[in-house]
Amino acid sequence: MAEQQEQWGSRFGLILAVAGNAIGLGNFLRFPVQAASNGGGAFMIPYFIAFLLLGIPLMWVEWGIGRHGGKYGHGSAPGMFDVLWKHPVAKYLGVMGLLISMVILIYYTYIESWTLGYSIFSMIGLYHGDDSLQAMGGLLSSYQGLEAGEHFNGIWTAYGLMLVTFAINFYVLWKGLSAGIEKLAKFAMPLLFIFAVILLIRVLTLGTPDPAQPENSVLNGLAYIWNPNFDELGKASVWIAAAGQIFFTLSVGMGTIHAYASYLRPKDDIALSGLTTAATNEFTEVILGGSIAIPVAVAFFGLDLTKEIASGGAFNLGFVSMPVIFGKIPLGQVFGALWFLLLFFAGITSSVAMGQPVVSFLKQQFGMTHRRAVLVLATLVIICVQPVVFFLGNGFLDEMDYWSGTFGLVVFATIEIILFAWVFNIDRAWEEINSGADIRIPVFFKYVIKYVTPLYLLVIMGVWFYQDAFDILMLNKTPGGGPVDPANVPYIWGARGLMVGLFILLCVLVNIAWKRRKNVSE
Ligand code: ALA
Repeated sequence: MAEQQEQWGSRFGLILAVAGNAIGLGNFLRFPVQAASNGGGAFMIPYFIAFLLLGIPLMWVEWGIGRHGGKYGHGSAPGMFDVLWKHPVAKYLGVMGLLISMVILIYYTYIESWTLGYSIFSMIGLYHGDDSLQAMGGLLSSYQGLEAGEHFNGIWTAYGLMLVTFAINFYVLWKGLSAGIEKLAKFAMPLLFIFAVILLIRVLTLGTPDPAQPENSVLNGLAYIWNPNFDELGKASVWIAAAGQIFFTLSVGMGTIHAYASYLRPKDDIALSGLTTAATNEFTEVILGGSIAIPVAVAFFGLDLTKEIASGGAFNLGFVSMPVIFGKIPLGQVFGALWFLLLFFAGITSSVAMGQPVVSFLKQQFGMTHRRAVLVLATLVIICVQPVVFFLGNGFLDEMDYWSGTFGLVVFATIEIILFAWVFNIDRAWEEINSGADIRIPVFFKYVIKYVTPLYLLVIMGVWFYQDAFDILMLNKTPGGGPVDPANVPYIWGARGLMVGLFILLCVLVNIAWKRRKNVSE
């Protein structure tokens, strides 16, 4: 057995860290927007089906691949896939696990830095008084450097906070698994839950803010999220959106769960731990995430305007409509700070996980010290984030999010489940998942992992490519569905070039690493 020096401090710490990895901006911003723009309650049916047939099985598969790879000293997908499939191509398939986590880390941490900024702005009352959606939208644009505004004239505040946020992330990674990531999760996760419960109680006690408009109520907002409209179920796009949300929110298909699980001991349970983290994420997403932003928006703006806000995307909901509402309620500054700090804690416990695969890769395959590996990753990421910051308005971030954070997750998950359940073999895979298990997983899931999940993934990938990805690839539309502005075309190609460039770089590194291994073993 090759060496794996780092270890999780405790099982509770590990579960909090993996739950922190999963619970992120996706739970509080992406989920409500997806639910609201895909038929409200109608979305929940394909969503729960995707959770059962994709989310839970892939959780177990990723914990299984990760712990198995860890036995051979591998903390990232190239080595893990190489162990599963003794074929020269396997390690290059694993490069996707490094690429996806790294690309998401780059743009996700930038968004996370806005939450840090807005929590400070809430505390100092910067946006209080800007009480229209238009004014708040202008504030966000000026903060992002897209237009000059009353409070910000240029990108530099956002740029500085981006650097601070990356510095905090890399500091946590630098401290290591137990003293960094686990300690952060133990501090941030309980606070996140406390803040979310406080906000939830505040939302549920708002009732009908404007008695002249009784239909604008929190109750109607909740009804919108929960009442299924079965007509919507015939739309393939709703099923695809639901599956995409399950991937993003659980952090499956990214390579990060593997990395965390690789630090387990061979007989540590993964069956119950995997299920617990998935369930914790769902509770946080559906109960907490689903009951805050949309119901409160319906109460203040009405159903139609809320749908319009949601169709403008997650940033519109989180950074525009929520601050307007905080401007209208007593102690709004405090609730605003809680909301954005909640987002920050949710974000940072996810982003540190996205750094871990590359750090493990550099340490294990190139013999780098932990600190050097973190520094190399930090340098690469800081270089790559520059166009994300400066070309935000040109679709650079959206393009990265679409190919890596949406489509890429499904592709990587399809590859890993085929490798694990078919190439490595389902009997061995099932034994691996059940080894040391604290629960008995119903054998039904063995068949799901072998047949249902891969088939589901292949169908989704096919329909998705046909319906959406092909048009986006050919620049017939943007990831948001609108027409492509010709002025943005060079930036879109720039984002693609950056991702392809990183992919090639990582493939070259894998190639060098394996040659070195061969030389050492000869
Ligand atoms: N799973 C993380 C989130 O939901 C990436 O934001």
